[in-house]
Amino acid sequence: NQAPDLAGRHIVVSAGGTREPLDPVRFLGNRSSGKQGYALARTALARGARVTLIAANVGLPDPAGADVVPVGTAVELREAVVKAAADADCVVMAAAVADFRPVAYAGGKIKKTDAEPDPVALVKNPDILAEISRERARPGQIVVGFAAETDDVLAHGRAKLARKGCDLLVVNEVGETRTFGADGNEAVILGADGGEAPVPFGPKEDLADAVWDRVAALFGPPAG
Ligand code: PMT
Repeated sequence: NQAPDLAGRHIVVSAGGTREPLDPVRFLGNRSSGKQGYALARTALARGARVTLIAANVGLPDPAGADVVPVGTAVELREAVVKAAADADCVVMAAAVADFRPVAYAGGKIKKTDAEPDPVALVKNPDILAEISRERARPGQIVVGFAAETDDVLAHGRAKLARKGCDLLVVNEVGETRTFGADGNEAVILGADGGEAPVPFGPKEDLADAVWDRVAALFGPPAG
């Protein structure tokens, strides 16, 4: 039984993976299942928080008590996160967001012809984590990012933390079947203060609770 140390806090969690459409039947996507983000939402609810869960293409049951906002693309995810962040005490970006989207959307299915296909031209998506870290819709708002890396995990994580400007960055290693879709995870939680806390492999709920321990410490004791 977890202490309700997040009671009175509004926490926004993003989960899942964005899909960037090419035509009505095809998209550019990634392997996120939403399990890590949903574990964050469930554990925050268990610790007393009010939770807005922004879900990009997730096929999991809604956590009881969460306000779930379904989205498809990175641009839709940005709009939902910015809106919910306006009165949030903490925002956690566990969603896997496409860095690029196709420049053009074909209104009808792209047909196969005898000619070689055209290359797909891409344009950058907004960097949501960098934006909310910079803007801080509320004074004292805590922003947490994730970093999915395949190599040189800690070095890339440190650089990403500095680039994005968030308070905490949870660095996890991913591969085709590693972390994505799995029930377990292991990670290192990096702090903007230089802190580095490894979390050993265990259920995704354990990593989520380790993140909330750090967030609760950053909040400090409840007012009053
Ligand atoms: O969903 P699961 O199957 O359980 O898998 C969990 C997970 C591997 C998806 C999760 O633990 C994880 O690592 N999520 C972040 C994935 C990701 O997009 O990492 P990144 O290193 O590409 O991005 C860094 C951070 O910036 C992330 O917090 C991301 O949400 C954010 N971002 C990225 C691009 C962008 N345009 N805007 C963003 O806000």
